[in-house]
Amino acid sequence: MLSQIQLEQALNSRPFRFYETIGSTNDAAMDWLNSSAPAGAVVIADEQRQGRGRMGRVWYTPPGFALALSVILKPPPETLNRVSMLGGLAVAELGEYLGVQNVGIKYPNDVQINGRKVCGILPEAAWDNDRLTGVVLGIGVNVRVQFEGELAQTATSLETALNRTVDRVALIAWLLERIDFWSTRLNSAELFHAWKRRLTTIGKSVRIDAVHGTAIDVDSQGALLIRQDDGTIERVIAGDVMIVTVNEG
Ligand code: BTN
Repeated sequence: MLSQIQLEQALNSRPFRFYETIGSTNDAAMDWLNSSAPAGAVVIADEQRQGRGRMGRVWYTPPGFALALSVILKPPPETLNRVSMLGGLAVAELGEYLGVQNVGIKYPNDVQINGRKVCGILPEAAWDNDRLTGVVLGIGVNVRVQFEGELAQTATSLETALNRTVDRVALIAWLLERIDFWSTRLNSAELFHAWKRRLTTIGKSVRIDAVHGTAIDVDSQGALLIRQDDGTIERVIAGDVMIVTVNEG
């Protein structure tokens, strides 16, 4: 079980809010952002009952088995599309740091081990009219969820891959440090290349909305370049940060 005291010790002076059970850490982080949370603040939950995934999917986090956290960032607006890269990259690095083999990023930001999903990222931006007030970077990592049946073909957990136990508090502390590191380098070529190097999608057949063909490259804005059957190249951004709050006041 994660606890407030363990997190206080591991996260030093970082502002954080911990919940044993919550609906969605992204929702709590968005509320905190809208009531002036500082950049770097984080919402962490042990159990998440109404976690949200990309494209309206549900993301349940069982107590004791995973990481569910939402980091508040205040990036310059022109670097908004880099936040999604940052999330996938930091978790991929966490896997590598632990010694997991075959960690990769499926475009735009799913972290996979041997092609099986271990982490999902949900970045959500907050706007005050046309002013970006911040971004909530939601991260869900399977740590010791045991997937069975068909799900075991598509999803996995860190401990399954490592065949040993890991300390979730230490993982959170390490991950947040990588997020701090990349947050100050959002617009850098270093971040783009570190993300691109880990992408497993290039060369694969893909379909995004109505576009399908072979993924041939990504550009520095995070767009995927897809060569369609007729030879035309389509530029598609699937890692868009969704707009979830618009304050009209
Ligand atoms: C995906 O669909 O791949 C993204 C899943 C993102 C889940 C995380 S868990 C922490 C944060 N809070 C949420 O409600 N969602 C994200």
